[in-house]
Amino acid sequence: MPTDPLFAIVLAAGKGTRMASARPKVLHPLAGRPMLLHLLDTLAGLSPAETVVVAGPDMAELTEAVVGHPLSPTVTVQQERLGTGDAVRTGLTATEITAANAGTVLILFGDTPLLTEATMRSLLQARASTDGPGVVVLGFRTRVPGAYGRLVVDDSGHLQSIVEAKDASPAELALELCNSGLMAVDAGLLPEVLTELTNDNANGEYYLTDIVALARARGRSCLVVDGDETELMGINTRAELAAADAVVQHRLRHHAMANGTSMHDPASVYLSWDTEIGRDVTLESHVVFGPGVTVENNVVIKAFSHIEGASIGDGAIVGPFARLRPGAAIGSAAHIGNFVEIKNAVISAGAKANHLSYIGDAAVGPNANIGAGTITCNYDGFVKSRTDIGAGAFIGSNTALVAPVKVGEGAITGAGSVITRDVEAGSLAVERAEQRSLAGWATKFRKARRKRHS
Ligand code: UD1
Ligand code: MG
Repeated sequence: MPTDPLFAIVLAAGKGTRMASARPKVLHPLAGRPMLLHLLDTLAGLSPAETVVVAGPDMAELTEAVVGHPLSPTVTVQQERLGTGDAVRTGLTATEITAANAGTVLILFGDTPLLTEATMRSLLQARASTDGPGVVVLGFRTRVPGAYGRLVVDDSGHLQSIVEAKDASPAELALELCNSGLMAVDAGLLPEVLTELTNDNANGEYYLTDIVALARARGRSCLVVDGDETELMGINTRAELAAADAVVQHRLRHHAMANGTSMHDPASVYLSWDTEIGRDVTLESHVVFGPGVTVENNVVIKAFSHIEGASIGDGAIVGPFARLRPGAAIGSAAHIGNFVEIKNAVISAGAKANHLSYIGDAAVGPNANIGAGTITCNYDGFVKSRTDIGAGAFIGSNTALVAPVKVGEGAITGAGSVITRDVEAGSLAVERAEQRSLAGWATKFRKARRKRHS
């Protein structure tokens, strides 16, 4: 029995009331990416012929969120939340699938995003078993089966039915094998059994789970594949979101370490789903990555640095306490030190900004040195302007560079200067009042004060 082509239906119509959020539940992020997109990314590994996401009414953001995804999923709306069976029926109407179809429909839940590709494949593999099972259900064992549906299996290990907890007898409630909700179903069988669903149950809903008994009644066998409880974690609350994020972080850190990143304290490093890190990179503790970061080889990122939308070149040293914001491009062997913020600026190879600076909307040439406390004054309350600093320039401590302004190659600015005009290459620009020294003044002053206050 052909198990190809593969169709996927992702259920995501749930409002997610317990998230206490204006945002649809499946758009809440894990490692900076909406959970639904994590699931679609994993699914993409299986190259389904068609993917449908079933959304609830008023979820325009959901349609927007999937635009541009390689799977190009169709989003269809389930107007009324009549149960998982009705949701799948809604999803099916968005496809070309009929009872004449060969293939498999993989049914996934948008709020169960930690599923791995290997687990999805194991469901499809079971579907390809010789007796051509009509439905393969992903089950798992747990000591606290609670509200999960229970899987009723016969002596030969075949699945007989799924009983929802609310409708279960005490004996059924005692079963530890639970329904994850995820299934691989014969594409030809699915439309037929869905039309036979009723809502005659404790919830008054059309249960997808009833398709198992209906498939059995048609003489089709049904199977269970054992899954891992961690992968099947469903997200209903912010606390569960945080727990799922911890799982994603664990996976991302292990991937990074396996590819040549050292971490002093992995649990304290927060990665983004798209963080790219080269080999022989060291991450000290408490480093946070937002989206869009690329780190080349041999980089050291010291403790308590926050990095987003930035690239860091080979051998650069960043931090401790550095902040790289979007558009920061740090060249090879450059140094960005403590309490230095870089935004939309190219810091060329070998340049240094080691202490207490803000460099925004700027270009810093190779081997330039930015003294402690230097600020690019890039914003006048209306527009942002650029600062250009030439190769090998030396910006004295506490220089304010009032943009737009250029400092030429090899030029020096005097400490404490407010630079408002371009500085020629090779010259010194200094802008400060001339220093006066009054010989003996301090001694006289103290003497007078002591006399008055003693
Ligand atoms: C479902 C299963 C239960 C299983 C559990 C695992 C049914 C009848 N029960 O129960 O056996 O143990 O998942 O977590 O399938 N959804 C829609 N439209 C609807 C209803 C649900 O899109 O009308 C979506 C939800 O957004 C969610 C998924 O389907 O992504 C599951 O729905 P939920 O209400 O959480 O089902 P459970 O009662 O948890
Ligand atoms: Mg649920």
